[in-house]
Amino acid sequence: MEILTAVADMRARARAARAAGRSIGLVPTMGALHAGHLALAARARAECDVVVLSIFVNPLQFGPSEDLASYPRSPERDASLAREAGVDILWTPEADAIHPPGHRTRVEVAGMQDRLCGRTRPGHFAGVTTVVAKLLAVVRPAAAYFGEKDGQQLRIIRRMVRDLHDEVRIVACPTVREPDGLALSSRNVYLTPEERRAAPVLPRALRAAADAYRAGDTDARRVVDRLRATIAAEPLADLEYAEAVDGDTLDPVATLRSGVLVAVAARFGRARLIDNITI
Ligand code: PAJ
Repeated sequence: MEILTAVADMRARARAARAAGRSIGLVPTMGALHAGHLALAARARAECDVVVLSIFVNPLQFGPSEDLASYPRSPERDASLAREAGVDILWTPEADAIHPPGHRTRVEVAGMQDRLCGRTRPGHFAGVTTVVAKLLAVVRPAAAYFGEKDGQQLRIIRRMVRDLHDEVRIVACPTVREPDGLALSSRNVYLTPEERRAAPVLPRALRAAADAYRAGDTDARRVVDRLRATIAAEPLADLEYAEAVDGDTLDPVATLRSGVLVAVAARFGRARLIDNITI
């Protein structure tokens, strides 16, 4: 596995691979790698000739009171996990290289970026789409891999590449979970043991919503109200939102149907957790 830092080196390696007719798969991450990230890498490994995994804790997507400074970092462990996962190129650019002093450009997906998590994290998705557009511009992969875990992010990125006429194929990978259902997340390390025991209420409540739909209840309001009540009954959970939205546009829906995204965010102490299920 090669480890690259400079934008110019990454661009040159990617250009050489493309010139040799080799397809590139890009897995963008912020590091602190876990089995969720590695599932993306495995999918890229299965589908592409050259797998590039980027690790970049993107300052643009953190709000002023968020956890940029304390975001978990484990560079040595990440490198060995990436190597074991069959990553060919680990790209770890410096913040100043991706966003050089004086940079002024933002890529924004209007409307979609203000819903769900966007309401309490203003500027977050503009930070995500801006950095992903830059990573795609440098690597120019045939495919880029994203987790369903970040359901809103995935949909916004799909919209962005369509709108920008980028040919990259966006591949969605299923959420990897702990045995008790909790979605793997770099931020799970913030949970105290009690909060960790309480957190699976999110996937449990989401599964119950999907079960209600399968049993014939298509009233989004009723199903989401029950979801909210289940989470509210957990004293350690502080619910931020629970919503049923269109899987492409993220517009709220009144009626559940196949493809609807049911998404939740809740705080457990220091940790803000998100999860979702596609009906
Ligand atoms: P990060 O949180 O490190 O996640 C990187 C990728 O891993 C994302 O596509 C995310 O959806 C996926 N992922 C995280 N947990 C997962 C899980 N349990 N199962 C499956 N996939 C999972 O998301 C970001 O970084 C950043 O916003 C980024 C896209 C890199 C832009 O900075």
